[in-house]
Amino acid sequence: MRLILPDARATHQVGCWLGEIATPGTVILLSGELGSGKTCLVQGLGRGLGITESIVSPTFTLVCEYLEGRLPLYHLDLYRLSCASVEQLHPEGYWQAEETPPGVTAIEWPERLVTYPDSYLALELDWITDQGRQVSIRVGGSTVGNYHLLLHLLQEKFLQGGTSLVEVPDLSASILQVQEKFPGQALE
Ligand SMILES: Nc1ncnc2c1ncn2[C@@H]1O[C@H](COP(=O)(O)OP(=O)(O)O)[C@@H](O)[C@H]1O
Ligand SMILES: [Mg+2]
Repeated sequence: MRLILPDARATHQVGCWLGEIATPGTVILLSGELGSGKTCLVQGLGRGLGITESIVSPTFTLVCEYLEGRLPLYHLDLYRLSCASVEQLHPEGYWQAEETPPGVTAIEWPERLVTYPDSYLALELDWITDQGRQVSIRVGGSTVGNYHLLLHLLQEKFLQGGTSLVEVPDLSASILQVQEKFPGQALE
C-alpha cells in the first residue's frame, strides 16, 4: 500500500491510525533518508496509543520507552550505530518482550538490524515533491502475523477519514490520496 502524504500532518495522522490499531508485539520498521518523516510518524503513533508525553527523536539516546499509553511504545533510532553496536543494544528484547511488557516497537534505520522480527510492518518514506512525502507500507518477515489485518484496518481508517482512492498512472498500486481533512491538531 502506498499513501501520499502532502504535509507533516498527514504523516502524523498515518502514525496515529497505526497507534490506534496496533496490538501487543507490533513492530514497525521505518526506512527513509534523514528528514523523510520517520520521527514525525512515530510521534503520531504515540498520539494514537494515547501517549501525551512528547516524543523526541532518540538519535542520541538510541531507545526511548513510553509506558503511559494503551500499549508501551519502544522507539529506537539506529542511525548512529554500527551493526555490531546494534547487536549489543539487543533490540529483539523489545519485540520478544523479554524484560519489558509487550508493546509496539518502532525502529528508525532498521537496515542496521542484525536480527529481524519474524514478521513486521515495513514503512518506507520518500519525497514526492519538494514538500510532500509518500509512504510505502508492506508486510515483511518469514511469517505474516496479523499484519495483513492491520493493513486492512489502516486502509479502512483512510477511507473513513474522508480520503479518496486515486490511481496514479505510473504506479501499479492504488494510491490513497490524503486530503486536507485532518483535525486541526497541533503537532509536537
Ligand atoms: N508528509 C510531509 N510533508 C512535508 N514535511 C513533512 C512530512 N512529514 C514530515 N515532514 C517534516 O519533515 C521534517 C523531518 O521529519 P523527521 O520526522 O524528523 O524525519 P526523520 O526522522 O526521517 O529524519 C519535519 O520537520 C517534519 O515535520
Ligand atoms: Mg528521526
